[in-house]
Amino acid sequence: NVMMLFGPPGSGKGTQGPKIEAMLGIPQLSTGDMLRAAVKNQTEIGKKAQGIMKAGGLVGDDIVVGIIKDRIAEPDCKFGFILDGFPRTQPQAKALDKMLAEEGACVSKVIELNVPDSILEERICGRWIHKASGASYHVKYAPPKSMKLGADGKPDPASMLDDATSEPLMQRPDDTASALVNRLKEYHRMTKPILKHYQPHGVVGSVNANQEMTKVWADMQANLKSGK
Ligand code: AP5
Ligand code: ZN
Repeated sequence: NVMMLFGPPGSGKGTQGPKIEAMLGIPQLSTGDMLRAAVKNQTEIGKKAQGIMKAGGLVGDDIVVGIIKDRIAEPDCKFGFILDGFPRTQPQAKALDKMLAEEGACVSKVIELNVPDSILEERICGRWIHKASGASYHVKYAPPKSMKLGADGKPDPASMLDDATSEPLMQRPDDTASALVNRLKEYHRMTKPILKHYQPHGVVGSVNANQEMTKVWADMQANLKSGK
């Protein structure tokens, strides 16, 4: 069972992924989260990826393919996994097919989160994350319980705490309007075209991701059940 969440930055991959994870009992693998962990730990890969990610570019295919290859060899991936943010280029898609074919597997479902670019800046610039768990919050659409507004009407950064652990939340260095321009450019230039690679196999389902999170999830469940 190999599932893929497909959509531009801010479309809701990280928000919806954990719900599928809980429903199907297979792990969500986010190459973005893995690369951010490498940056935090200042590994060789992290040092190479840091500047590229901050500017909103794509990290090299060899690096991300290597990361995914190692990750899917772990025991918790034995019954399947949910890919979030991978593959993002034609060579990555080909490398994935090859890795899966070696195990006699293939991509069983792709869910495309459809959303107009125009709403993504608000989503990205309002996002706060809990680094340890990857949980995503939003100042307007999914505020943490602890959030307090300052005199300027903006959230007080000290009040942005994770609901589960009360640890501080942070904003991603690439969640700026200018980096988003590059991230969207790369999405349309390199990533969106690879959806065509999966369409002939009849595994692509599209969901309207420009609606409330609970509605997006309901549509995803319907899509998974119908098998379309
Ligand atoms: P990655 O971490 O994958 O970032 P991304 O693809 O840009 O996607 P995001 O995480 O920004 O968006 P999301 O869809 O997860 O949105 P979320 O659910 O959090 O990659 C980061 C970087 O790493 C890349 O730019 C690249 O440099 C590198 N990289 C990663 N993978 C790579 C690869 N394979 N090859 C090369 N380089 C790679 O939602 C966003 C916000 O909106 C949240 O605040 C959320 O609360 C809110 N929200 C979500 N849904 C809704 C809704 N329905 N209504 C209102 N608000 C909502
Ligand atoms: Zn994400």
